[in-house]
Amino acid sequence: MTTNEIRTAFLEYMKQKGHAIVPSASLVPENDPTTLFTGSGMQPMVPYLLGQPHPLGKRIADSQKCFRAQDIEEVGDNRHLTSFEMLGNWSFGDYFKEEQITWMWDFLINELHLDVNNFYVSCFKGNDELHIPKDEFSLAVWKKLFKEKGLEVSAGENPEQDGMLPNQHVFYYGEKKNWWSRSGVPGNMPEGEPGGPDSEMFYDFDPQGEQKIHENSKWKNEPCHPNCDCGRFLEVGNNVFMQYKKTANGFEELPQMNVDHGSGLERFACALRNDPDIFNIDVYDEAKKLLVERSGKQYAEDEITTFAMRVILDHIRGATFLIGDGVMPGNKDQMYFVRRLIRRAVRFARNLGINESFTASVAKTFINTYKEEYPILHEKQDSIFSELEKEENKFRKTLEHGIKQFEKVATRNISGVDAFDLLQTYGFPIELTEELAKEKNISVDLEEFARLKKEHAESSRTAAQGKFKGGLGGDGEMEVKFHTATHMLHEALRQVLGEHVQQKGSNITSERLRFDFSHDAKMTDEEKKKVEDLINEQIAMKLPVIREEVSVDDARARGAIGLFGDKYGDVVSIYRIGEGTTRGDKNLFSMEFCGGPHVENIGTLGHFRIQKEEAVSTGVRRIKAVLE
Ligand code: SER
Repeated sequence: MTTNEIRTAFLEYMKQKGHAIVPSASLVPENDPTTLFTGSGMQPMVPYLLGQPHPLGKRIADSQKCFRAQDIEEVGDNRHLTSFEMLGNWSFGDYFKEEQITWMWDFLINELHLDVNNFYVSCFKGNDELHIPKDEFSLAVWKKLFKEKGLEVSAGENPEQDGMLPNQHVFYYGEKKNWWSRSGVPGNMPEGEPGGPDSEMFYDFDPQGEQKIHENSKWKNEPCHPNCDCGRFLEVGNNVFMQYKKTANGFEELPQMNVDHGSGLERFACALRNDPDIFNIDVYDEAKKLLVERSGKQYAEDEITTFAMRVILDHIRGATFLIGDGVMPGNKDQMYFVRRLIRRAVRFARNLGINESFTASVAKTFINTYKEEYPILHEKQDSIFSELEKEENKFRKTLEHGIKQFEKVATRNISGVDAFDLLQTYGFPIELTEELAKEKNISVDLEEFARLKKEHAESSRTAAQGKFKGGLGGDGEMEVKFHTATHMLHEALRQVLGEHVQQKGSNITSERLRFDFSHDAKMTDEEKKKVEDLINEQIAMKLPVIREEVSVDDARARGAIGLFGDKYGDVVSIYRIGEGTTRGDKNLFSMEFCGGPHVENIGTLGHFRIQKEEAVSTGVRRIKAVLE
């Protein structure tokens, strides 16, 4: 079965079971400030899981395009993808465990003919402290289904220590493995977040131990079991029994018992081929063929080639879908990741000897592969091609200049100063310096490099502070307050008007703050009041202001906003208002890139009032506000 056929079969199956099929939502979530991208099928479903009625009923299914930015660096092995599709079905307080498990079995084993001998599942072991019981019910349903196929299976109670005994196909794991929420384990969930125990499904690629996948991995001295990361097993899907909500005092039952099932479409395809390399499934065929033609190398020729081709296949597919959803390469927020995908792909293309423009041609193959399912890609193809080409060419120039400079200094081992200069002056990533040095058999002083980078980050921060204070005069106490209030205003505007709001300018005197931002309509009185109220509510909560030094990547992954640079791996300072560390945490109000200075606690700010809201230019508004 082709991947497209599997998708159709799943949706058809769920339709027969009474589900309304909905189209994939955009990769850029609407009204969900907790995350930059749609990374799972359930994200657009959160309101309905929490109890809001879905207009199409209690049974919904779809195939959702997803993007997981946090996995960029993981891509290159045989299973990680940043860009994939998730097959999903949901019960909003309708059917529950028994139906879900039985249907998944029926679909995978009876419809897709997945080999039952290679099929494994896991269930939640329970947690006394959280008062969440062991999921013996789900386990019993799975056991019954195995038995119907003639497999009398027993349960592994402690697989991480005991490994797998013969005839065990069902396993219990704790909350690190068998609990699902958008923020992971129960301890990380903010108040109000829904979550629940889950039951995962796995496929075994080495049932006879012939390929010795586990023994050839770094886990060889540990017992192998379905949730071990050695590569023998692939988790193909997850049935979440979304029945709890986190509260200040632990967990309470949601008003309804929900099912949230999500499976990797590409992973199903991979399991059905009985080949653990996900990049061998049909959706990559055309693109792979093109890379083989352009490079003159075979996909499985050697490790470097395979790795580079995987990165390109994943990244260009991701960039194609993202640009299709309107995210152009750039410096900020979602746009930064598109830039990063393209640049990484170009960088790895060098390892294949592809030194001419290729990203648009690869995108074309994906547009063709998905022409029926995602016609938006075809509609947007002009902008997909031109954005890819522009970014690729820009980065190629950076690379060329950097490589020339590298050649100049590479007559000896590369000092930290040289490596840092390559990054700072030529925008040449350190990974590339390392790679080229390796080719020449010379070393790079990474320690010195790291020290210089850190020093630089510190001095730019000090400079930023100096500039800020210098521009203000006096002791600046009022200005510092206005500066903190500016962060709050930025965040409040995004919450009230939407995520499109971005800072366009800021100016502070001891009397007032002035803030320019992107928004194309005059604010209503009601909106202004909402912004004021939101800010004053936070001030009343006396939240602390906390400064932190983090990598740009980490800050972005955690959802920090603001204007930031375009250098890989830079260390920056962010200011948080509230104790939470990630955007979406309930006790975090704002998190922004900034050099400071700020007040220590917003309780000292007084009362925030908007004096004036006006247009500055097309699409840019200006607010003047005071603290009283
Ligand atoms: N929410 C679960 C997941 O993303 C199942 O849809 O894995």
